[in-house]
Amino acid sequence: MSYMDSFYENVEKMGVVPVVVLDKAEDAKPLAEVLVEGGLPSAEVTFRTDAAAESIKIMADECPDIMAGAGTVLTVEQAKRAVDAGAKFIVSPGYNMDVVEWCLDNKVPTIPAGVTPTEVTALVNAGLEVTKFFPAAQYGGLATIKALASVFVGHRFMPTGGVNAQNLAAYLADPAIIACGGTWMVKPQMIREHRFDEMLALTKEAAEIVRSTRA
Ligand code: 3PG
Repeated sequence: MSYMDSFYENVEKMGVVPVVVLDKAEDAKPLAEVLVEGGLPSAEVTFRTDAAAESIKIMADECPDIMAGAGTVLTVEQAKRAVDAGAKFIVSPGYNMDVVEWCLDNKVPTIPAGVTPTEVTALVNAGLEVTKFFPAAQYGGLATIKALASVFVGHRFMPTGGVNAQNLAAYLADPAIIACGGTWMVKPQMIREHRFDEMLALTKEAAEIVRSTRA
C-alpha cells in the first residue's frame, strides 16, 4: 500500500480530524492526551500561531498514539518546518501547487482544499484522491459535496468549517466523505482556559457519532 493509501485509510478510520489552534506549546501534550483518550487520535495543528511547530514536535516526540499533522499550511517553507517538527501530514485551507508538489516529491501525505469544480480538477490532476472542502458550511455543505462527488467519481472530501455534533452524522453517512475536520470539540477558548474535561466529553461524543455512523 502506498504512503498516501495508508494515510487515507487512517483518516477514514478516525472519521474526525480535530483542528487545533494552540497559543502555548505547553498545552500540546495534555490536549493530545485528551484526544487520544476521547477516541479521536489525530490533530491538525494550525500554522496560525507561533506555537504551532513546537506543539507538533511535542506531540510527535511525547504522544506516540496521536497522528499529528499541520494545518493552515500556505507555503513550502511552512510545510518544511512542519515536517521537520514531526508533522505526519499537511493540510491547507486552499491549495498552492508548489506546496502540493513538495509534499508529493517528499512523500508527505497532504490534503489541500478546494470548493469549485475547477479547483477539484487541479487536485485530481495532481494525483490526489481527497480534497478538504473548506469552508464547508459557507460553500453549500453536503449538497455541494454531493454535486461534486457525482462528477469526480471516486474522489472524496473532508468537509471542515461549520461541522459540529449536530451535523456530523449526516456528513459521515455520505460515502464521498472520508472524514470531517473541525474545532468544535477543542475550541481555541476551551484550550486557553484548560477546560480539558469538557474537551474530553465533546471528543468522546464525536467519536461515538463516528462509531455509530460507520458501524
Ligand atoms: C479551520 O480552522 O480549519 C476552521 O476554522 C475550522 O472550522 P470550525 O471552527 O467551524 O470547525
